[in-house]
Amino acid sequence: MKISICKLEKRMDTILALAEVYQQSYNRLSERYKTAQEMSFYTKGYFIKKLWKMAKDDQSIVSVVCVNGQPSGFIRYSKVPSYYHGQEVESGYLDGFEYARCHKVYFDDEVTLDDKSLIVNQIYLAPHIQHLGIGRILFKHTLKELKAKGYNDLVIEYNIHNDNARKFYHKLGFRDFGRSKDMDHILSDGRRTIFCLSDVRIAHTTIDNALKHIREGEMMKRGSYERSY
Ligand SMILES: CC(C)(COP(=O)(O)OP(=O)(O)OC[C@H]1O[C@@H](n2cnc3c(N)ncnc32)[C@H](O)[C@@H]1OP(=O)(O)O)[C@@H](O)C(=O)NCCC(=O)NCCS
Repeated sequence: MKISICKLEKRMDTILALAEVYQQSYNRLSERYKTAQEMSFYTKGYFIKKLWKMAKDDQSIVSVVCVNGQPSGFIRYSKVPSYYHGQEVESGYLDGFEYARCHKVYFDDEVTLDDKSLIVNQIYLAPHIQHLGIGRILFKHTLKELKAKGYNDLVIEYNIHNDNARKFYHKLGFRDFGRSKDMDHILSDGRRTIFCLSDVRIAHTTIDNALKHIREGEMMKRGSYERSY
């Protein structure tokens, strides 16, 4: 398996391949806690639009992982949103409906976040390459780049139902420190849009700590491989 990592470019062939990956990975993840009706909003067009926006967005850093030359996953980092520094009213349009909601983080532990801190907005791998260590490789590669650019800390929000993500982040040294709500929205009957919120946990690590956990994980895996021969 040949793995390479590069920056997301504004190329339709890459966006289409990644939208497929994103949709498959997202659908598999959500099937346990979303109904078919709730999932009906998440069409291919939704993922293409989101990725196209990411490719154009100069506020975020997006890296793509290719397996044997095929775009198979991505990670996106950006500045910590302002609602971490106080409650904020988020507003916009969805399906022609205007919405507004209060976005707030409930801190269980104190964490200092500044302009050297980033949030991991998304990390998604194609289902057939999950749990093979590629997520860790993608983190390791991108964290070294972020460290070289002067960033120190990371936060991540994950859905409370996403046990794999929780295990993955905790193995990378992230520790939970807060809670919030993320907006999902569902189409009910083609006429009305119902907005719903899901519970998220928020975790933090320093980049140094994550790199240390990745190194220790690699050493443990090498040790158990050598012992088995
Ligand atoms: C979460 C994700 C990015 C992790 O990347 P990955 O390459 O699958 O993870 P790794 O193989 O590097 O695994 C690292 C650890 O994460 C946990 N883990 C990851 N995927 C898992 C799975 N499918 N089942 C069980 N544990 C899993 C394990 O604890 C694993 O440690 P181990 O190898 O010592 O058992 C990837 O599985 C993914 O894309 N999942 C779907 C999308 C998603 O949940 N994104 C996060 C949204 S917040």
